[in-house]
Amino acid sequence: MEKMPFRPELDTHMETLHTDVTTVISTDWRTGLPVLSGKQVALRELRQSDAAPLFAMLTSEEVARFISPPPSTVEGFERFIAWTLRQRTAGTYVCYAVTLQGFDTAIGIFQVRETEPGLVTAEWGFAIGSPFWGTGVFQESAELMLEFTFETMGVHRLEARAAVLNGRGNGALLKIGAVQEGILRKSFLRNGRYLDQVLYAIVEDDWRASREAAAETTHAKVH
Ligand SMILES: CC(C)(COP(=O)(O)OP(=O)(O)OC[C@H]1O[C@@H](n2cnc3c(N)ncnc32)[C@H](O)[C@@H]1OP(=O)(O)O)[C@@H](O)C(=O)NCCC(=O)NCCS
Repeated sequence: MEKMPFRPELDTHMETLHTDVTTVISTDWRTGLPVLSGKQVALRELRQSDAAPLFAMLTSEEVARFISPPPSTVEGFERFIAWTLRQRTAGTYVCYAVTLQGFDTAIGIFQVRETEPGLVTAEWGFAIGSPFWGTGVFQESAELMLEFTFETMGVHRLEARAAVLNGRGNGALLKIGAVQEGILRKSFLRNGRYLDQVLYAIVEDDWRASREAAAETTHAKVH
């Protein structure tokens, strides 16, 4: 999602929500996000203490170049985090913090927002601090997020947009099985220029088929 749905200028809530919950186990993601655990990464709900590390990770030129401008201060990130928790409670949006297994520091985020009522269709977006690019953190996090989105949130079609000029963003989407569906001409205003974007989608049936194929390959290698 190149365009982050958070609009600081429209957010009138002055207080920030202080959550120091480390692990929320819940059958309903609207009341608290379950931890998604992989080999290399653990994805968890955002908390206020993530504001400073996320400010450090996500405001560099190379990370922010092709996405909506992230909040420009630590306080701005605190307001963003409080907003994400309210949207999650409303059931229209989730934002996960990416952490490395065994470390609690947030190094990136994955967002999913409803684009059709009932979460039939949703759009996702992600940003990871550049020291962790090319390390496998993105791929494992994305696989965990896809499972959560299709299995737990019940999304049927997950869209993404990447500026045509965003080489890494396009490469990242292609390698996790997103299909290019078209070009949205001059659809994204960044630094005073209207940029073309590629529209991608992963549909639930394709995701299930590719997961089954991967499981069969693993099974065949073991036996
Ligand atoms: C998007 C992002 C999360 C991906 O994480 P990452 O660690 O860089 O992703 P990976 O390295 O696993 O995958 C990127 C792929 O694109 C490829 N790639 C890099 N530059 C490329 C280019 N100019 N053109 C095409 N592909 C490119 C890489 O080789 C890699 O593929 P490989 O693993 O098969 O070699 C990260 O780059 C990021 O946070 N970018 C800034 C935020 C952003 O643009 N988000 C929106 C994305 S739509």
